[in-house]
Amino acid sequence: MATICVCPGSYDPVTNGHLDVIERASTLFDEVVVAVLYNPAKTGTFPVARRIELIQQALGSRPRVRVESFAGRLLVDVCQDLGAGAIVKGLRGSTDFAFELPMALMNRHLTGVETVFLPGNPAYEHVSSSLIKEVHALGGDITGLVPDVVLAALREALPQRD
Ligand code: PNS
Repeated sequence: MATICVCPGSYDPVTNGHLDVIERASTLFDEVVVAVLYNPAKTGTFPVARRIELIQQALGSRPRVRVESFAGRLLVDVCQDLGAGAIVKGLRGSTDFAFELPMALMNRHLTGVETVFLPGNPAYEHVSSSLIKEVHALGGDITGLVPDVVLAALREALPQRD
């Protein structure tokens, strides 16, 4: 039977750190579903449809990886519907772990689904969607930290200040 995992996130927008985790997840599982979900702690910048488009463009054609929106749903319900046996998340450091552990335990409590943590690529340890947006909007150079399509989308959505 095919092994399926879910890589969940807000992806507002996708970064090279996210892509690294998605690519590595695809070496461990037969199918990867990149799930764009709602995080109540965050206000969105890009509409969900645009986030999906950017992830798809950044990933290119990958037959075993698909991107879908599940806004407004519990992650564990999404995993059950998809027949996914695991959630895959990247960890940039101990702060991420402190944030992710309660969610992993809650998800396992709810349905038994396990979370697999992958150590993030140290090259992207300082990269988050929020910091990317802030640095770009204030004129900082984020080249190499996000895919080119995201850089172009940020220039359109968040013009840089002089
Ligand atoms: O990229 P993010 O914002 O860190 O991702 C967090 C996300 C979207 C994966 C998390 O907020 C989530 O799982 N949301 C879906 C709703 C849900 O299942 N909440 C209970 C989590 S224990």
